[in-house]
Amino acid sequence: MREVTVQLHRDLTIAETERRLFGVFVEHLGRCVYGGIFEPGHLTADAHGFRHDVLSLVHELGPTVVRYPGGNFVSGYNWEDGVGPAEARPQRLDLAWMSSETNRFGTNEFIDWCQAARLEPMLVVNLGTRGADAARNLVEYCNHPGGSALSDLRRQHGWDEPHGVKLWCLGNEMDGPWQIESKTAQEYGRIATEAAKVMKWIDPSIELVACGSSGRNMPTFGRWEDTVLEHVFDHVEYVSLHTYVNNYAGDTPALLASSDLMDRFIEEVVAIADAVAARRRSAKRIWLSFDEWNVWYRTRRPQQARVRPGWPVAPPILEEVYNLEDALAFGGMCISLLNHADRIKAACLAQLVNVIAPIMTETDGPAWRQTIFWPFAHFCNFGRGRVLEIQSDSPTYEATYYDPRGTQDLYFPLAKVSYLKLAAVHDEPGGTLTLFALNRHLTHDMRVALKLESFPRFVVDSAFQLCDPDLKAANTKAQPERVKPTALTRVHVKGARVDTTLAPASWNVVRLKIAE
Ligand code: AHR
Repeated sequence: MREVTVQLHRDLTIAETERRLFGVFVEHLGRCVYGGIFEPGHLTADAHGFRHDVLSLVHELGPTVVRYPGGNFVSGYNWEDGVGPAEARPQRLDLAWMSSETNRFGTNEFIDWCQAARLEPMLVVNLGTRGADAARNLVEYCNHPGGSALSDLRRQHGWDEPHGVKLWCLGNEMDGPWQIESKTAQEYGRIATEAAKVMKWIDPSIELVACGSSGRNMPTFGRWEDTVLEHVFDHVEYVSLHTYVNNYAGDTPALLASSDLMDRFIEEVVAIADAVAARRRSAKRIWLSFDEWNVWYRTRRPQQARVRPGWPVAPPILEEVYNLEDALAFGGMCISLLNHADRIKAACLAQLVNVIAPIMTETDGPAWRQTIFWPFAHFCNFGRGRVLEIQSDSPTYEATYYDPRGTQDLYFPLAKVSYLKLAAVHDEPGGTLTLFALNRHLTHDMRVALKLESFPRFVVDSAFQLCDPDLKAANTKAQPERVKPTALTRVHVKGARVDTTLAPASWNVVRLKIAE
């Protein structure tokens, strides 16, 4: 058994978490929209066709914002196809996922769904096949109160009040050759700037996200951010980051270490954004929008795994089945986001339902929770407050993470990976302190001594762990509760010290509250 000392000080703070850090993503992809959040005629569907078994799991999960409608899908999407009388909407071929898009669900239905789900909408405009004109028209349609052709069209469609969408993404993954009409950094920087200008001329209150690299393993990573931000710096508030971690190599220690590369990625993007600011002698800081992140590999490669022949409507693609070790790696990613709350002001788990998702639906049964549901629910529900700096003397290990790019094998060595990955969030008004702890040691318990001298006295409010002797254990339709949190019983408070023991390969949440 290893013993680790963890020190926290109430005044040593990274930042207060932004509300938008706890976001999700809904794309017109597979069964995410159709058969996921929207299924008219389903036993639990309301008059809008919104599935209430899904809505109640979304409420339990507790996210705050939702990005829509893509993803790769958006780069071929005509928003006009998805508004107006449903029976008149065209069915189109979606070249992103080789599927048919009925357009039965569009922007207005999405806004209604956001209300039912209690989520802020985050819209993505098409900067692939479309450009500034379609983008500014969508802003006018959504946000202008009335008295112009497009705002009056919205009212005629039945939505009298403006949607008031504040957060907008300028395209999606425009650096990726898989993207419909992908661009060079120069091309994208120009188009994003022009789109941003006219979108803000329509509604100056909106906030904009420019596309960063699709991943740290992209050959243009770094140069892309630098060039794009040189163009768009004055017009945007955020730059995006995307990361999907994998276990292609079947190397669990490396999978669990992979979120440390996410930390590096974040710090590198911050450095580039700040270098662009420095070149302009600007005090402005570009925020980070980590608007796609998850574990994803089983249904990612080869390309055939991602499409079904015959242009089907809502095919069951990208339905990754998550096991316990995926949930642990996922928990590490939550910790990375929390520990960079000073620069990450928005983030979206990709995705919400059926497609690489925490929530799965059935046509003939209730929606159920995948393993990753649990760390995400803990992150959303207990991650609000001031993230504290952490000092710990956790032992470390080395790993090599395999992250292929196209046909190229890429290996990323990782040194000094702490067995214990930690984040602590102090909600002073709520009187709670939450410790998120990932024990990455596969065989050893980790005894933790948490030192809290600068805080008022705490008692244990609740404590959970997610662990299982079988790292490959997963939830399924037949066994939806095979993996779920259990009580972490070994937590003892003695004065300003909290002692606990964390099981090998475990995700843990310890919630303390001020003693009465
Ligand atoms: O989330 C699945 C896909 O991953 C998105 O459509 C795309 O943006 C990314 O490559």
